[in-house]
Amino acid sequence: ASDRPRSADWAIPFGAAIRDWPFQNEPAYRSALIAHCRQIVGEGGLKWADIRPTRESFVFDQPDRHMAFARQNGMEMRGHTLVWYGAMPEWTKTIGSSTEAERELVGHIETVMGRYRGRIKSWDVINEPIPDDPASRSDIRPSIWQQRMGEAHIALALRTAARIDPQAQLVMNEYDIEYVGDRFRRKREAFLRLIRDLKLRNTPLHAIGLQGHLRGEVAIDRDGLSAFIAEIRSMGLDVLVTELDVIDNKLPGPPDLRDAMAAARAYDFLQAIQTVARPKAILTWGITDKYTWVPLWFKRTDGLANRPLPFDEAYQPKLLMRVIEHFAKDP
Ligand code: G3I
Repeated sequence: ASDRPRSADWAIPFGAAIRDWPFQNEPAYRSALIAHCRQIVGEGGLKWADIRPTRESFVFDQPDRHMAFARQNGMEMRGHTLVWYGAMPEWTKTIGSSTEAERELVGHIETVMGRYRGRIKSWDVINEPIPDDPASRSDIRPSIWQQRMGEAHIALALRTAARIDPQAQLVMNEYDIEYVGDRFRRKREAFLRLIRDLKLRNTPLHAIGLQGHLRGEVAIDRDGLSAFIAEIRSMGLDVLVTELDVIDNKLPGPPDLRDAMAAARAYDFLQAIQTVARPKAILTWGITDKYTWVPLWFKRTDGLANRPLPFDEAYQPKLLMRVIEHFAKDP
């Protein structure tokens, strides 16, 4: 039927992050999501800064809108995110003691997850726990939670999440673990150390999210990534690709050449994963090059627009979409 997304019959559900402004104001943006996606995730909306502008308030307008859209169109909505160092409102700096931090974190998860219990079936409970350049395998990224409670905040969040929605898939999400290079190998090892520790203590954790913000100019460590996935699988964990896009600020100019190189990078990444395990979902961090976070951090110096996503600014599919389709169909 015409109201089914193109990806309806693919073995792996495809989805995209949804940005609220075009979602509310641009019909073509909504149409693209409806035409292609089986899953959505808010690019914002469920983050602390969005949902907790003050300690006392919970503002659910945006995620409620996205949820209504998902339900109308037969999509699943993922939850992003409950524990992250980023997008924290100013007031959380006043959280003073470990007891207070524990109370805030648990209360937040109870309220936010509780509201969407049975409706959001997959949550990025923990986002980006490992520092960019870990000093050791036990290095955890600084955050108010890490500062007040230490690493115990991670298990606390996961246990709370499992208590609030025992059916939900609990995910720990990370970036920069797929590349060639010493720093990235060390990040992979630190992430694995954390995952192993959590599993050894029987902490509820069901899947690892690979964000997949791929850098156009850095090669994928295919063997390293495959070995990482094999280790994840051996612990009984599933794998999701949660935020795929290709950061193309250092790729050479002509758009068609850039699109080919971006697609090849994503091919390497998805191939290295899929030779070991089929991801439970593949989501890109946006649907169209028109709305992407990439130029906020990685603007091109030649005046040309970034092209990180599967559809161009006119909503035409690019090679990246063909690559995703190739793997997601996975006969
Ligand atoms: O909504 C306001 C808008 O009203 C205002 O005009 C505009 C001017 O700056 O800002 C808008 O908000 C920005 C929002 O993105 C728009 O989508 C925020 O300032 C900006 O901080 C926010 O950045 C987001 C960032 O996370 C921080 O929350 C990015 O969109 C989002 O793509 C990015 O996503 C992260 C994932 O959560 C975790 N993994 C990495 C990924 C990319 O950095």
